Amino acid sequence: MTVEEFVHTYYVDRTGTNSSKWDGLKRKFGRSDLLSMWVADMEFKTPQPVIDALAKRIEHGVFGYAEVPDSYYEALDQWMRDHHSYSIKREWVRFTPGIIPALYWFVNMFTKENDGVIVMTPVYYPFLNCVKDTNRKLITCDLDYEDGKFTINYDRFEKMIVDNDVKMYILSSPHNPAGRVWKEEELDKMLGICEKHNVLVISDEIHQDITAPGVKFIPSAAVLGGKYESIIITANAPSKTFNLASFLHANIIIPNPELRAIYDEFSKRYYQAESNLIGITAAEAAYRHGESWRQDLMKVIYSNYDYVKESMKDYPEVTVVPLEGTYLTFIDLRAYVPLDEIREFVQDKCHIGCDYGEWFGENWKGFIRLNIATHPDFVHQAIESIKRELKNYICHAALKERC
Ligand SMILES: Cc1ncc(COP(=O)(O)O)c(C=O)c1O
Repeated sequence: MTVEEFVHTYYVDRTGTNSSKWDGLKRKFGRSDLLSMWVADMEFKTPQPVIDALAKRIEHGVFGYAEVPDSYYEALDQWMRDHHSYSIKREWVRFTPGIIPALYWFVNMFTKENDGVIVMTPVYYPFLNCVKDTNRKLITCDLDYEDGKFTINYDRFEKMIVDNDVKMYILSSPHNPAGRVWKEEELDKMLGICEKHNVLVISDEIHQDITAPGVKFIPSAAVLGGKYESIIITANAPSKTFNLASFLHANIIIPNPELRAIYDEFSKRYYQAESNLIGITAAEAAYRHGESWRQDLMKVIYSNYDYVKESMKDYPEVTVVPLEGTYLTFIDLRAYVPLDEIREFVQDKCHIGCDYGEWFGENWKGFIRLNIATHPDFVHQAIESIKRELKNYICHAALKERC
């Protein structure tokens, strides 16, 4: 399908459907008249075979306790092998009602109060919260940001681990909001440091299937043929890829039997949950039949991104961070808008509801994160309003200077 065909076929107006993104605007930003580009889900219907599988299950009418069928594990393994050249054994897999709760559990099950947990900022804010809320010591290692691109400062990372006796690293791969899809050599260096200092790695790979043309995602556990598999717990899900977030279903993959035993012991004590029939049904259908839809979706996301990048060239000092993966574009407005005016600029002048840089770490104020997995018209509208307001802003500043 072309971008236009995809948008025509799958776009839906979500206002009035209890969507956090649209109907939650007032709660989040104090006003509901904003163009919503924040929370990471999409305005597109999930693939038709997923809807069909759900309809069939709903039609059955009985929603008692459910088993996870063998076919689910096969579909997950097939998806991972086909897309990421990584095979998953059935006994490694556990389920959680989403990755955020899993992050909290991991911190609780594998660390003690006051233990150091490291993250690389700017990063998805629940990474920060799950450490702070559980009374662990949050260690934030900023990514290097140079020429509009994010890279890892390995020396700083290692020093922070050693100085703070860090026990756990929560890795975002692909990285939200830096847009990086880590290369194998980058992962090798990062994971090598963790292995050297006995740091357990939680690799959140929820964005694994959303990568720009020609960019290859590598699961952390697959780096160099599985070199670091024993120190990694992977969390992935079909929720971002196929717009299934509200079904609260994520895969937790633990190849190391000792870590699995700790996970199972913790689950026995604190979390005796069944699996979610609807989440499992949707995920299996998506893994089996969603690929052509996903490929078409990628065209929409990356053509939206190309538009943002091209269009912002009129303001060369605005940096649109390269988007290798995820559908969340990080934009640096610091050259034009003073830090303490960013929010007023974006919200009150541009009328956009989006995520702010400082949510992802204290040093990133002045950036905004726009979710571009949406109708191209919304992306155009957002960028045009940012450009219009930048122009006004610059004119005002010039006038002030002349006075
Ligand atoms: C890196 C990352 N992890 C986790 C999540 C949310 O996971 P879940 O909805 O499964 O709790 C998001 C959502 O934006 C995300 O970007």
